[in-house]
Amino acid sequence: MKFRLSLKIGLMFFVIILGLELTMVFFLHNVLVDSRIEDEVSSLLARGHSHQLTLEHSFDEETIYHVTLMEVAANTDVMVTDADQQVLSSSFQNQRVEEAFLQNFTFDSVPRKGLILNDDIDSFSYINTVHEIINGNGETIGYVYMFLSTDSLHAVIHQLNEHFWLTAFIVISLTTIIIFILSVNIVKPLLKMKEATGKMSKGDFSVSLPNTRKDELGDLARSIQTLAHDLDYLKKERNEFLATIAHELRTPLTYIKGYADVVQKRKLSAKDEDKYLKIIQEESEKLTELIDDLLDLAKLDQNQFEIKKEMIHLANFLEQVQLKMEPAFYEKKMSLSVQCPNQLSLCADPRRFEQIIVNLLDNSIHYSNSGSEVIVAVSAVHSGLLIEIIDNGQGIPASDIPHIMDKFYRVEKARTRKYGGSGLGLAIVKELMNAHGGDISIQSKENKGTTIQLLFKDEKK
Ligand SMILES: Nc1ncnc2c1ncn2[C@@H]1O[C@H](COP(=O)(O)OP(=O)(O)O)[C@@H](O)[C@H]1O
Ligand SMILES: [Mg+2]
Repeated sequence: MKFRLSLKIGLMFFVIILGLELTMVFFLHNVLVDSRIEDEVSSLLARGHSHQLTLEHSFDEETIYHVTLMEVAANTDVMVTDADQQVLSSSFQNQRVEEAFLQNFTFDSVPRKGLILNDDIDSFSYINTVHEIINGNGETIGYVYMFLSTDSLHAVIHQLNEHFWLTAFIVISLTTIIIFILSVNIVKPLLKMKEATGKMSKGDFSVSLPNTRKDELGDLARSIQTLAHDLDYLKKERNEFLATIAHELRTPLTYIKGYADVVQKRKLSAKDEDKYLKIIQEESEKLTELIDDLLDLAKLDQNQFEIKKEMIHLANFLEQVQLKMEPAFYEKKMSLSVQCPNQLSLCADPRRFEQIIVNLLDNSIHYSNSGSEVIVAVSAVHSGLLIEIIDNGQGIPASDIPHIMDKFYRVEKARTRKYGGSGLGLAIVKELMNAHGGDISIQSKENKGTTIQLLFKDEKK
């Protein structure tokens, strides 16, 4: 079970490498043996040819004897016959070889350079050549046969085979060892990773994988490690988020319950009762808003948000928004001015775009002193369309700016009834800007004011 993969890899490599090696050895062996036989045959032919020349020069008993004698000393043999194939002389001790031989082979004509009668070393114990001896008148006067015992060739081949077997043994052993080491080397980290992912699927993200390899397995290990960290982070974030939501929901509920109790238990004047009921109504509205915001965020997170883009004539659109927001500004004795060139338009979802602007203006009202002014300024810049919301309010401390768009983040941590924001407004604005392919940036100075910049990229001007 544990080494199934390594066994598979090992066997596969082993079979492939062994196959390759065997084919190579087979061909090499054949080539070596063939060329060796070829060498022997051609040297036999050369030797026969030299005897042929000698005997053509003088075909007498003494020369024939000399030729025979020369071969007795060598590992080759010679046989000289007359034109009728009657043996005149031979270097063989054993007469029977010659007789058997002469019955085996017949031929019609012999080329000048000699004829190979037999080079099949597996079926016969000699390889043979024959040369014709021709006198000065062009008449055939005899034949010279050359013999090479295949024993010596067989011995050479045997030795060659031994070497090949030894090499094969060494190669197979080395291959086995190398494949074993390799497969263990590959399988071990894989098993570790399997263990790690198993742990992760059970919710334990405290995995640590060795981070030393530079290859693909190392990459995989690092990816798993990163995944574990990310999942761990997500899990913590989710828990924190849930805790925050619970807390945010509880605060308005506490007010509602508290004031409902008061209204129910005490005998209140009609005026007081009205006041408390109004608070209850406000808090319920806040709860509804909070839940709406949460749903919006959840949808934005999952990209389920439908953005229906339309061309918006900005000057008109902002004028409408200004009208809608007027009571809120009036209530805080603040003023809103819109600066927008008449020809500018924007391609965006009008409902969502309004949500963005209203959220930001809402903040400006909330976090400015009464009497101050808020400006919405629109301008065409080279990278697109820039909308700025500028207020002279309380500003945001520099250390809070990086987090200000996080969910539930508020500068004022204490959630009083006066500053009752949920901290979701900017998070939603940011997601909405993302969904529109736009950017949002914040510049703010404490007690001086805040400028929010919305950049819609590549907008036609
Ligand atoms: N125009 C602004 N001036 C000063 N502070 C701001 C401004 N806009 C946002 N903030 C700060 O950023 C926080 C987060 O804003 P937001 O996400 O809209 O949540 P909420 O308004 O519900 O508190 C606010 O609580 C406030 O502290
Ligand atoms: Mg807000």
